[in-house]
Amino acid sequence: MRRMMVAGNWKLNQGPAAGRELAAGVQARLEGRTLRGEVLCCPPFVTIPAVSAVAQGEPVLVGAQDCSDQASGAYTGQVSAAMLAEAGCTHVIVAHSERRQYQKETDDLFVAKIDRVHEAGMTAIFCFGELLEERQAGREEEVVEAQLSGVLPRLASATAENLILAYEPVWAIGTGETATPEIAQHMHLVSRAEAGRILGEDTAARLRILYGGSCKPGNAAELFGQTDVDGGLIGGASLKVDDFVAIVEAAETAMGG
Ligand code: 13P
Repeated sequence: MRRMMVAGNWKLNQGPAAGRELAAGVQARLEGRTLRGEVLCCPPFVTIPAVSAVAQGEPVLVGAQDCSDQASGAYTGQVSAAMLAEAGCTHVIVAHSERRQYQKETDDLFVAKIDRVHEAGMTAIFCFGELLEERQAGREEEVVEAQLSGVLPRLASATAENLILAYEPVWAIGTGETATPEIAQHMHLVSRAEAGRILGEDTAARLRILYGGSCKPGNAAELFGQTDVDGGLIGGASLKVDDFVAIVEAAETAMGG
């Protein structure tokens, strides 16, 4: 059985003080629990030390929302994967649709970033998903397969342990519109099949695929009940302790806890 993950992507929210408070709230609610699944918080870079001071390993892991494609050197404004690992991160989100859209990031960059994450001994969470107009044109499977086949075959050392996929349909992100459980299951199945063609069936069967896009306490249980949905990447609802913990509980229940 694949171990579920509930990951909070705080995006551009929570400076160090607010981030410490949010992480401490989550930590307090989960402290002492042996969870069946994994729980991850991904604050902005400057908030990572404050969150790491509160959450030092399970049950609340700390991750970053991005990293440099370079290991070190004259790259003003960038943060390396090794620095993030040193700061206590175990995971790094790569290729979020907001970075694809606003920073115009491309497959070449995603490959380099994921390789840097792996070199630093961390796990990459690789995001992908179709736009509304792509779904309306009936192209969602083709788009998702291209996003996966543009990156996964070129990775130097991807395994089912150091790579997590996150299907995030762009039309569901921050819109309040969630993929139906049927859509999520179908797209996760399509993604796992493509990952199987690239990484091999054994790896694909063990690979975790998270769902992201307006995942909330009210819909998490149904989404996590789908065979190929292995948890969630949570935006807005990860900023409220009660909502985030309720989503964690939905994952625990889905795992039989
Ligand atoms: P929302 O949960 O706010 O829709 O954001 C999803 C997301 O983009 C997580 O990475």
